[in-house]
Amino acid sequence: LPAGCPGKVWFVGAGPGSEDLLTVRALRVLARADVVLHDALVPAQILRWARAAVLVAVGKRCDRPSAGQRDIDRALVAAARRHASVVRLKGGDPAVFGRLDEEIDALQAAGIPWEVVPGVTAASAAAAAAGQSLTRRGDARRVTIVTPRTGRGQLDNDCWADGLDEHGTVVLYMAGRVAASCAQVLLDRGFGPDVPVVAVRAASLPRQDVRWTTLAGMRSGFFDDGQPVALLIGRALADRRPAAAHRGGPHPARDLAELAAS
Ligand SMILES: C[S@@+](CC[C@H](N)C(=O)[O-])C[C@H]1O[C@@H](n2cnc3c(N)ncnc32)[C@H](O)[C@@H]1O
Repeated sequence: LPAGCPGKVWFVGAGPGSEDLLTVRALRVLARADVVLHDALVPAQILRWARAAVLVAVGKRCDRPSAGQRDIDRALVAAARRHASVVRLKGGDPAVFGRLDEEIDALQAAGIPWEVVPGVTAASAAAAAAGQSLTRRGDARRVTIVTPRTGRGQLDNDCWADGLDEHGTVVLYMAGRVAASCAQVLLDRGFGPDVPVVAVRAASLPRQDVRWTTLAGMRSGFFDDGQPVALLIGRALADRRPAAAHRGGPHPARDLAELAAS
């Protein structure tokens, strides 16, 4: 790069994990990337689309040692000073629990241009996996994406549930391991014990698992294997178990390379 002329940083949403849920724009940007700084949850099948890029893992995982946010900000700025096209690849959509603002602020302060490429967020992928609508005409006019975790990884007790009620659909992120206590918080806030709950683990991935229950059932918890889990909660959710029994198996378009070659 000419001195004093930085490259551009693309914040790219990698979607929930299956490579065929990447956007075409994400594929184009990845194919041109010189460097990709990626989250821990982004699978290898997606990273291989960045054919010419140096790959740098900077992901943060709950309860595990990982790169600090300041280090990531600095690495982004340093990469953009040396390379024309830098991708910051984030799971799902970069604008949902993705620390996008901190990284944009760092780039702005350094005078580095940037652009966001949206991705399929976990709420959409989980709803699709369970055959659910997140809204329902005449019933649920609101979807709330919320996490019980504060920005520092701790739980905030129950403030996260302020303003929620069972007639909007609630989508809980980063709550797989604390599902039982989250259920209790919602029950204490007046949600009925029979309110439907759908727990979706690893939406769109081969290890995807969908469980239908109620808020009372959620008090026993769900998956505890470190896989990402999205919890859908609300009166508008339907029990789609019978329909789900007829689906399943890998998605026919999962392998994009195969698709492109056919
Ligand atoms: C740090 S947040 C990042 C969210 C991401 N930016 C998005 O838009 O989906 C990570 C949380 O997203 C949810 N998540 C991400 N991928 C998922 C998947 N494939 N299936 C279910 N939940 C997922 C889980 O709740 C996980 O704890």
